[in-house]
Amino acid sequence: MPRLRTAILISGRGSNMAALLAAARDPAYPAEIALVLSNRAEAAGLARAAEAGVPTAVIESRAHRGDRAGFEAAMQAVLERHGIGLIALAGFMRVLTPGFVERWAGRLVNIHPSLLPAFPGLETHERALAAGVRLHGCTVHLVSAGVDEGPILVQAAVPVLPADTPDSLAARVLAEEHRIYPAALAWLAAGRVRVEAGRVTVADAPAPQAALVNPLPEPAPLPTPSHRIG
Ligand code: GAR
Repeated sequence: MPRLRTAILISGRGSNMAALLAAARDPAYPAEIALVLSNRAEAAGLARAAEAGVPTAVIESRAHRGDRAGFEAAMQAVLERHGIGLIALAGFMRVLTPGFVERWAGRLVNIHPSLLPAFPGLETHERALAAGVRLHGCTVHLVSAGVDEGPILVQAAVPVLPADTPDSLAARVLAEEHRIYPAALAWLAAGRVRVEAGRVTVADAPAPQAALVNPLPEPAPLPTPSHRIG
């Protein structure tokens, strides 16, 4: 089976990119990472990709300020030149136009550091802590026109612990990102993903693991009248 030529789009350090590159080193992995494309020349991930021998390209979004269509036309030209059939967004911090999203429909996937649809956008870990959620996590989804929206391929949940800071929570989530993204990209590249009415099914996917639930305090105190809640 020819492997699907895949581009990873980054804006920064590229740790998810590195996880995808590592997975794709296996010749049996159905996606071949044929290009790493950044909208910032200073993205640290570019050097990591070059070290791994993967072709890299930069289309500076700053040079196209106020001209998203021009920025995306330049990206599209590079993607076509490299014969790309699938795009994985990995910390790519530009919003794509509906036109670009439509052109790549079903072949454009993103990872986001929250359990979508909770906390789309930026500073997800700060917002999860402020909201007091007990579970947080990450999502790999097909991209549709809204920001951090689209059919969900896979999610991983982690507990939010009392002593967490945004950094400690981000690190716990990031470890899960590195685990789920290679799996989801493989399903997509292998043509195992079907979307019906916005819901994804994956052919021959492993059974979901039991839901992760925070440990309850022990022993759970019975509410006394003075402490009754509600
Ligand atoms: C990751 O946590 C990714 O989920 C997030 O940016 C980080 C990039 O880190 N993406 C988004 O917030 C997209 N809305 P990385 O460059 O080390 O992969």
